[in-house]
Amino acid sequence: MISSLGKYENKNYFDHKAFLVPMTGIFITLEGIDGCGKSTASKELARVLGDKGHKVHHTLEPSESWLGQAVRRSYTEEISPFTEVFLFLADRATHTEEIKKKLADGQIVISDRYCDSSTAYQGASLEEPLAKQGIDSVDWITRMNATVIREPDITFLLDIDSETSLERLKVREELSKFEKHNYLEKVRANYLRIAETESRIKIIDAKQPAEEVLADILAILEESFKHQH
Ligand code: TYD
Repeated sequence: MISSLGKYENKNYFDHKAFLVPMTGIFITLEGIDGCGKSTASKELARVLGDKGHKVHHTLEPSESWLGQAVRRSYTEEISPFTEVFLFLADRATHTEEIKKKLADGQIVISDRYCDSSTAYQGASLEEPLAKQGIDSVDWITRMNATVIREPDITFLLDIDSETSLERLKVREELSKFEKHNYLEKVRANYLRIAETESRIKIIDAKQPAEEVLADILAILEESFKHQH
């Protein structure tokens, strides 16, 4: 439950007194294709909310545990897309326990990637093999995710086209197997598809400068949580 400090009328999102006050934890996730800027945005969001006096836990997927390391190792291996999805889910199941503890402690948890990454990315990798079995990959992963997640309270989808994201990634030396143009377009389409049915997902224009992306996120957060008491 959240209560905003109603007496501060002319709110400035960067004024710590004017922001929401969490009574129990809030679980925020940031999603988007590679190069969308969610890592920068999630760290900045954690910093701003921390500066406002909130207890904030910033986390990410793949996690930093040995399970996350196993997932990262799989990037460079030729493995079945099914093995891949189960690795991400295995990491998430344990990560979820950690997230739940922080939320129970009243913290704001901000995760750079979570359940929707699997739906979007592995939804793309598994589209063909599952279609052969008459199964829709996005639906299948959504159901698999449901067994291991704590539903995020709000998700920011930093939406950007794959050309722009790949331009941004060019500064990196080596691109992973997930960072190919056609693949990223499919991933983006999957994200937008999930956003149509999940009201927790808020689409942010990630082509904007980083400060504007952050300002949009803060404005939506304030609006979304101020009415909860
Ligand atoms: P990313 O956030 O880009 O980490 P880094 O900045 O360290 O590269 O995530 C790594 C990759 O993992 C990214 O290409 C997306 C992919 N991924 C999935 O395919 N499925 C998932 O469930 C998650 C969490 C990530």
